[in-house]
Amino acid sequence: MAALREAATMIRAGGIVAVPTETVYGLAADARDSAAVARIYAAKGRPDFNPLIVHVTDLAAAERIAVFDDDARVLSTRFWPGPLTLVLPLREGAGIASLVTAGLATVAVRVPAHRAMRALLAEAAAPLAAPSANASNGISPTRAEHVAASLGAAVPLILDDGATTEGVESTIVAGRTILRPGPVTAEMLAEVLPVMAGATAHVSAPGQLATHYAPAKPLRLDAVSGGAGEWLIGFGAVTGDDTLSAGGDPVEAAARLFDTLHRADASDCTRIAVAPVPEAGIGAAINDRLRRAAHR
Ligand code: TXA
Ligand code: MG
Repeated sequence: MAALREAATMIRAGGIVAVPTETVYGLAADARDSAAVARIYAAKGRPDFNPLIVHVTDLAAAERIAVFDDDARVLSTRFWPGPLTLVLPLREGAGIASLVTAGLATVAVRVPAHRAMRALLAEAAAPLAAPSANASNGISPTRAEHVAASLGAAVPLILDDGATTEGVESTIVAGRTILRPGPVTAEMLAEVLPVMAGATAHVSAPGQLATHYAPAKPLRLDAVSGGAGEWLIGFGAVTGDDTLSAGGDPVEAAARLFDTLHRADASDCTRIAVAPVPEAGIGAAINDRLRRAAHR
């Protein structure tokens, strides 16, 4: 595919490229090239340097960057490739730009499952640092159009491979603590590492601003009906102007979450309301993003 070769060429030349993963679209650069990584921050308009996730092709590549313990091996064997990010000690001499780790002694690493991201990793032959491909504090992009609307000319190339399937960012785990809930749920993690059942799902990763996922308009949670001037996003029996999932399916709701927030922001209503979503399973990740979107 010509676009893929062009993207890999741009990465190797120190450029940035927007690329879909199974969770959200990412804005990728060679993680070893600090000037390239700086271009990510510039395009996003990030005021601060949050540490970024490094994406690699497989466990062997991850082990060249990070130091794995038994728990990390269990988790990566079970969930990679997939939407799980592990925060691990940075390996000495890993060659990752310090801008990626924001100077921390740890690095966040994951092996993505999406064919476009995997093809780019192979073709560019580089570890790719990639935050979500949205302007700082904007809604995460689950379609190429979201990236274009949020970042515009700041991104020279968007690999368009349709809507992402998971819809919310990867689960982040450090040790046996969930720093950010995501598609790999607490229940799924607890099946392979029992102690994780007791881990808190509400500890913030450093730099995870409370308003990180905010739409432009005020947002009200746990709404069972819409008020005047409010765009109601329903779920299950709660119907509205739009729905996360008419059938009350939390997995479908996660996949549609950011898309519905984008539509709500684009509507002619001045405020947004969202129906309650059960906390079980991936509901924890949905509610985490909704609470952040409501916080201002
Ligand atoms: O699904 C995803 O994870 C997407 C796709 C593109 O892979 N990426 C993503 O990246 O959500 P970003 O930059 O939006 O979120 C990265 C999160 C931040 O909250 C950051 O604080 C945390 O990862 N993080 C990165 N390195 C860390 C570290 N060493 N220790 C703790 N948290 C870290
Ligand atoms: Mg983000």
